[in-house]
Amino acid sequence: MGSEKTLVIGMFGFGVVGEGLYKVLKQTPSLKASIKKVCIKNTSKKRNAPASLFTSEKNDLLFDPEINVIVEVINDSVAGYEIVTTALKNGKDVVSASKKMLSEHLPELIELQHTTGRSLLYEASACASIPVIRNLEEYYDNDLLHSIKAIVNGSTNFILTKMFEEKLNFKEALLLAQQLGFAETDPTLDIEGYDAANKWVLLLAHSYGIITTIDKMLFNGITQINELDAKVAQSRNQSIKLVAQAKKLQNGTVASFLLPQFVDHADQLYFVKNEYNGVVIESGFADKQFFYGKGAGSFPTASAVLSDIAALRYGYRYEYKKLKQQVPSTLSDDFHLRIYISFEDLANIPKEEFTSIEEWHSGNERSYLIGTIPFKSLLHKDWWKTNNTSLVLMPDNIIENTALTELKKMSLSLAGLTV
Ligand code: HSE
Repeated sequence: MGSEKTLVIGMFGFGVVGEGLYKVLKQTPSLKASIKKVCIKNTSKKRNAPASLFTSEKNDLLFDPEINVIVEVINDSVAGYEIVTTALKNGKDVVSASKKMLSEHLPELIELQHTTGRSLLYEASACASIPVIRNLEEYYDNDLLHSIKAIVNGSTNFILTKMFEEKLNFKEALLLAQQLGFAETDPTLDIEGYDAANKWVLLLAHSYGIITTIDKMLFNGITQINELDAKVAQSRNQSIKLVAQAKKLQNGTVASFLLPQFVDHADQLYFVKNEYNGVVIESGFADKQFFYGKGAGSFPTASAVLSDIAALRYGYRYEYKKLKQQVPSTLSDDFHLRIYISFEDLANIPKEEFTSIEEWHSGNERSYLIGTIPFKSLLHKDWWKTNNTSLVLMPDNIIENTALTELKKMSLSLAGLTV
């Protein structure tokens, strides 16, 4: 552990997170960290801080030798990348909450930390107040990490809670999420799943050492969920949540996806409501562990930025330990998923792709079926996102090929055929 250093901060952005951090830092004098300058786009806008703190000239921060930490909390990923890379190259440590920027540039940013010897921390970028990145990085040995399952977007969880429990409609719930400062400036990033997917890219890197991008990921948001889906969930005593999942398969590869999912009472995630996030980790000897906390909002997000700033005093940096394993983990596309799918017209559903169909309900306006389908029939396909179709994963959703073979053997022997 290095010696404590005094931190002089240059901050980019004074929105929900930036202003939150400004207030939180004022209440944490023991930290020996102060904000010297804040760079914003529009200096004429009235802010709740002295005007002398603000500048619109980024180099006032990036080239000030006294500033040793740059905090980047803007929501422009192109400008954010430029700021973060310049700061690292100029010998400054960086704390960022820009999940989109980080997910789009993770390999370059890891390399730059290596070549500059500086630290880039981003605990606030996934699950806001929950210290999940540092825990994954430091605590869980990859061989022991069986699975990780998480709600990583506060806005969509908030909207689903308000729709299910307070009978608000989608638009009303989204408006409330925006008013409370949970949603992204462009809320389609939340409701279409992009924000959660960006966070999942970061969590996959720190849990399994897998570097991927969202265009390679199977994901969706919550915009297609409709009344029938909600009724089915209620009839099963379950709720629908947007859940990211990764699991190590028997052959050592990793299954990963992010989709709406039926969650039942026995699952810790059932009780994660409103803007809260939750992470369930299953590991070899500890069995299940559950992390819970606010996943969006000014102070919860600022608290994670604050914790990263505090860690910089001791020279903390991510080592990306899981990237250095002898046998690197890879993503699998060779497994099956148990899904529920509701639709208006069966003609739009490729029935022949299903390995098995276990339930089928036909209605006047919408119908649905529950069955097992190869992951590859969903990845990079859009039949399940178009024509007013809605896909929700079943609670026990990953079916490994070995289990399928067993199922087939069973049904063949039941039919009196030898296998
Ligand atoms: N829009 C994000 C969310 C903010 O709702 O989770 C926190 O990253």
